[in-house]
Amino acid sequence: MQKIIIDCDPGIDDALAIFLALAARDDIEVLGITCVKGNVALDKTYRNAQRICAAAGRLDIPVLRGIARPILAPADLAASVHGADGLGDIDLPLLVDFPQNPIHAVDFIRQQAEKYPGEVVLCAIGPLTNVAVALLFDPQLARKMHSVVFMGGAAYCPGNMNDFAEFNFMVDPHAAEIVLQSGAQLVMFGLDVTQQTRIEDKHLTCLSLQQNPCSQIAARLLRTYRQGDQHLHDPCVIAWLIAPSLFSGLQSRVSVVTETGPQFGRSIAQPDPDGNCLVMTKVDQDRLFDTLLVRLAQLKGQ
Ligand code: BDR
Ligand code: CA
Repeated sequence: MQKIIIDCDPGIDDALAIFLALAARDDIEVLGITCVKGNVALDKTYRNAQRICAAAGRLDIPVLRGIARPILAPADLAASVHGADGLGDIDLPLLVDFPQNPIHAVDFIRQQAEKYPGEVVLCAIGPLTNVAVALLFDPQLARKMHSVVFMGGAAYCPGNMNDFAEFNFMVDPHAAEIVLQSGAQLVMFGLDVTQQTRIEDKHLTCLSLQQNPCSQIAARLLRTYRQGDQHLHDPCVIAWLIAPSLFSGLQSRVSVVTETGPQFGRSIAQPDPDGNCLVMTKVDQDRLFDTLLVRLAQLKGQ
């Protein structure tokens, strides 16, 4: 059983990643969900994480507020593809009595790493602000966790914000650089691999035919999302934990451009057997969608 924390900015593909993790109860224990500013403001990502857990009937999962702005970068970048509320404006209900947890996301990450030494897999699918600040608080944290598996960057391909930068890295490149140079065990799911996951009509049809509430919600979310982004980025991180053989990659040395200018947020990578990061480069996309659809069908929800 892998113990994970999902650090996220939901976000429609974040929501799918959370559903997938909650559905994989035989393989994955979700210790908590820490929220960060990214696709939308922190108040929204925090509420959205609660809405997703509530939809899945999992009020027992701690949801924690994190950091409300990037470390140094301008705070105004947001992703319109997720809608004004961050979850496609489909009016997913928010439980007024969802348990509120006063612990800060950064403290939660550190506490869980102390509680389960060497076991915690930190799955980061938004800007890396919370993760970087946790690592700055405790320089030993990199060794106390099992690994940081993240969606972000574009190692060997162009970006999705411009020719160079991917969204999560561009929102907080300084945080990304702190994480990359932290000495933690790192696995990177950048656009190199996530842009091989194309959402097609047949996937939406299949989801819509599944009668459980979470699959129905996923279908509605993806229908709006697909109008702006065709790719299922964030669920790759969770799918890899469930079925690592879906993916292959290349050990690399990766850093991020933090100087202001046209390449701000760009990932710089080169293959290196002693590099800091395993960069995923290939996915079996048919098997990935099979895994997602089969698992989601098992998620009962409210
Ligand atoms: C990343 O940016 C966000 O919009 C998605 O949730 C994903 O984490 C893809 O570039
Ligand atoms: Ca995300």
